[in-house]
Parts: sequence; structure tokens; C-alpha cells
Amino acid sequence: MKEKLKQISEEALRAIEQATDASLEQIKIRYLGKKGELTAVLRGMGALSPEERPKIGQLANEVREKIEGAIAKKVQETQAKAMELKLKAEKIDVTMPGTALPAGHIHPLTSVQRELENIFIGMGFEVVEGPEVELDYYNFQALNIPENHPARDTQDTFYITDKILLRSPTSPVQVRTMEHRKPPIRIISPGRVYRSDALDSTHSPLFHQLEGLVVDKGITMGDLKGTLETFAKKMFGENTRIRFRPHHFPFTEPSAEVDASCFVCGGKGCRLCKGEGWIEILGAGMVHPFVLSNCGIDPEEYSGFAFGLGIERITMISRGIDDIRLFYENDQRFLDQF
Ligand code: PHE
Repeated sequence: MKEKLKQISEEALRAIEQATDASLEQIKIRYLGKKGELTAVLRGMGALSPEERPKIGQLANEVREKIEGAIAKKVQETQAKAMELKLKAEKIDVTMPGTALPAGHIHPLTSVQRELENIFIGMGFEVVEGPEVELDYYNFQALNIPENHPARDTQDTFYITDKILLRSPTSPVQVRTMEHRKPPIRIISPGRVYRSDALDSTHSPLFHQLEGLVVDKGITMGDLKGTLETFAKKMFGENTRIRFRPHHFPFTEPSAEVDASCFVCGGKGCRLCKGEGWIEILGAGMVHPFVLSNCGIDPEEYSGFAFGLGIERITMISRGIDDIRLFYENDQRFLDQF
């Protein structure tokens, strides 16, 4: 029996030595399990003499402990090895150059809007926003555009109900501001506007405006001219001049369309200005006294000027873009140029 135990011990230890992670469990069962070889030897102990029994028992225990110890050691070793491999595999070389991801950039309309905002903020204007779904009152009535005015035609305006519409300029923001603020007021209102126009190279049913409003005591046409000239020089270059052409808007009196001298040819005439030397950039005028009083501001005490420009138009002029549709198509080949 001694021989048998010795043999089991040697065999087991050899097997453990060569075992892999997966075969260890089998080895354990084979030698130490209920039907294992060592157990079989112990079962046969009944046939031994009383003197021999404790000796063999002790020896068997020693063998058991040896095998268990060897298995435990092997388990530890294989786990340590596995961990080492895992750490090696997961090691990150922080000095390795990364894969460059293509970065997006700001849409030309957004970048021009920000440029415009910054110019006016620099002149002391505050940016104010308002709802795109508006009441007829703020979009038309308060702006001195009466019920039968052609601008109210559903051909020009998207109506949601009789009284609710998609704003056609950003002017309603100015009415709302005047209603709840006392002069001095100096604001710009950029944002989306909607007009029932068919899409072509110069028209879009959705476009962007930036309108400005100044109301205070003693505001004159001179202030309007000075403000717009400063703006034009900052936007199109120091040598830019502006000119006013008489025009009509229901909400301003007098009203004007404002041109800037062509910044490509300096006024001599070229392709951009179509030989004119001048490019129309915006509409403007002195706020109509009716509009002031509609908003609770006394036109005897206060006066003001307003102007409105199309952000698409300014972007097209300043970036040399000849089709408004390009702004909305998200063609990467177009966008990548800006
Ligand atoms: N609201 C005018 C438009 O949409 C622009 C404008 C604003 C003109 C303010 C004069 C004064 O065309």
C-alpha cells in the first residue's frame, strides 16, 4: 500500500507539473475526488492490521496534502501567468500617434451671423431673440401693416390660423422688446424667418435675418447713417462707402434701401456688383411714430431707427456664393470651402 501511495503521489505531482489550467480540475478529480485513486486506497485501509493503519493513514494524509498543495501552487502560477499576459496585451502605448478624425466646422451662415453680431455688440447693441411662430399682431398690425396690406397675403406669409403665423421678418422681436422695456433701447434680433416663396437661386421659403433697433431721445437719421457706415466698413473693409436710396416700408418713415460700394472693384463696376459699383445690403429707416405709440412709447419724446438685412444675402456677397440653395443642401464639397 505504501508503494501504491508513493506511486500515486509521484504520478499526481508529475501530472500537476505539466498541467494546463483546464486539465488541473481533472487531475484533482482523478486523484482526490470521491472516486479518485487516493480515496480508493483509503477505502482499502480496512483490510490493514491495526498497527499499520495509522501509519498508512498518516502517509495517505501527507500525500493528500502534497497533492493539494501542488494544485494550489499551480493554480496560483497559472493565474499569475494569465494576468501577466492580459496586462501585456492591454498595455497602451501613449506615445503612439493617434488616428486623425475629420473635424467639422461652423456653417458659413452661422459664422457670418456671429460676425455680424460681434460687429453690433461692439457698437453697444444687445442680441435679443423671439418666437418663430408669431401672432399676426406682432408680425403685422403693430408694425403699421394694416389688414388689407398685400404683405399679409397668404402668397407671402405662412399662416397657421387666422391669427397665428410663421414670422416673416424678425421685427416682431423689436415690438415685443419695446412693449416691455423703456428706452434707451439698442438691440439686434437675428433669426429664422419664413416667406411663401418658391425656392430658386435667390429665394428660399426659410432664410435668416438680422434686424436692428435703436430708440432713445433725439435719435436722428444721422445716427442711422453713422451706425450703418461703421457696420459696412467693419464688414466689407475700411474703404467701403454707403448710400441711401429712398424706399418705402410701412414701419419706417422715411425709409431707405442702403447700398455699399462694391468691395471687389471699389465702385468701378465688376461682375459682383453687375457693373453698378454698388451692392444693396439692407433696408432701413426711422421708426414710424405709429409703431412707437403702438408699443407704448411716446413719439413726441422718443425717436428711433431700424434696419434689417438678410444673412444669406450678406454671406453670398461676402463669400462669393451665387446660389442660396447651396446653404441648405449640406453638400460637403460646398461646405468644405468655408
Ligand atoms: N423688415 C424689413 C424686411 O424684412 C427690413 C427692414 C427692417 C427695413 C427695419 C427697414 C427697417 O424686408
